[in-house]
Amino acid sequence: MAAAATISCTQKGTDWIGNGIRTAAAQLELTAEEVDGTGMLPRSIHEGYDMTDLCMQLGRDSLTFKDSLRARPAADKKGKRSLCGIYDWTSGFFPGSLWYAYELTGDEKLKEEAVKFTNLLNPVRYYDGTHDLGFMIGCSYGNALRLSPADTIRNVIIETADNLISRFDPEIGCIRSWDFGTWNFPVIIDNMMNLDLLFLASRLTGDDKYKDIAIRHADTTMKNHFRDDYTSWHVVSYNDDGTVERRQTHQGKDDNSSWARGQAWAVYGYTACFRETGDSTYLDFAEHIADMIMSRVTTEDAIPYWDYDAPAGPDTPRDASAAAVTASGLLELCTFAADGRKYYDYAVKILKSLSSPAYLAKVGENEGFVLMHSTGSLPHGSEIDVPLNYADYYYLEAMKRYLSLK
Ligand code: GLY
Repeated sequence: MAAAATISCTQKGTDWIGNGIRTAAAQLELTAEEVDGTGMLPRSIHEGYDMTDLCMQLGRDSLTFKDSLRARPAADKKGKRSLCGIYDWTSGFFPGSLWYAYELTGDEKLKEEAVKFTNLLNPVRYYDGTHDLGFMIGCSYGNALRLSPADTIRNVIIETADNLISRFDPEIGCIRSWDFGTWNFPVIIDNMMNLDLLFLASRLTGDDKYKDIAIRHADTTMKNHFRDDYTSWHVVSYNDDGTVERRQTHQGKDDNSSWARGQAWAVYGYTACFRETGDSTYLDFAEHIADMIMSRVTTEDAIPYWDYDAPAGPDTPRDASAAAVTASGLLELCTFAADGRKYYDYAVKILKSLSSPAYLAKVGENEGFVLMHSTGSLPHGSEIDVPLNYADYYYLEAMKRYLSLK
């Protein structure tokens, strides 16, 4: 395997990227062994929250939310690895990370684990209860198809894409994100990440119906999800006639704030739309979002606070996952943009920060996760300043993209 051979050379070095890859591979292998046989996948670490801190971050005097198990773990679980089932939106990231780690090292043991954990997700092909199917199946089976093609994998991808497009409403021009909540037809910016699965399904089948829906979704989102300064709302809900019902946040500081991961999903998603369509509207848009991110992230190491509008300070939780998604997105954007160098340099700055001891775990620590200091959903008291499986996935993807550019 050519890619693995190239990267193995780097691996032998003592540079930051070699260390990042070695650490990731060791952590993933260790975790795979420990989780094997549970039928579950690693997601994060159980942590609680401090209500005073939450109120401070959110600029509110009091807060009411329904504690999820994730927000308030039992004492004996605190600090321990949390697992998720195959229908969780993050289920594809661990198998996907194993695939990337295999690609980056050529280690056959990682491939074996990647195949095993990918196969666990097979029943998801019959599921249509969320827009997150793109994350779940694209990151697992999508990478499996790339690195170990088989018709059975191809079929899972196409069946899943069919289920994903069943959530598309032609009147509204979007794929419905969630089936919970009081919204009429909620669409979240994260949904841009599910379009890659549709582009892939069109390439695999030669049928443009998947791609056409992805483009409609991207165009409707471009029209309604962004403010004049190219920051994005998190949730836009639509009326049945396609008019906007509400613009809100779910995981950000407030309805008008810029939730860090949402901005990262946006730049990554529109870069992918340009890659797949060649339409320069998407490239221009992705560049505007990237420029906004680079001017709005104020931390010295380029790892954003969990929300760009959160009160900045040494105790403000960071979101390494947003940084990893941004780095990966910018490493693709830099190959298309006329002024690509600035995106490349910024992405490398992020990657070096993530690969430093401030964010990269020591082998055997961090409950087997690769990166520390991400934030899942602060307003819900959930997964604050913890590792997250998707931070690890996009960190690995970004390292792969970085090495491909080199
Ligand atoms: N897609 C959910 C999240 O980014 O937290």
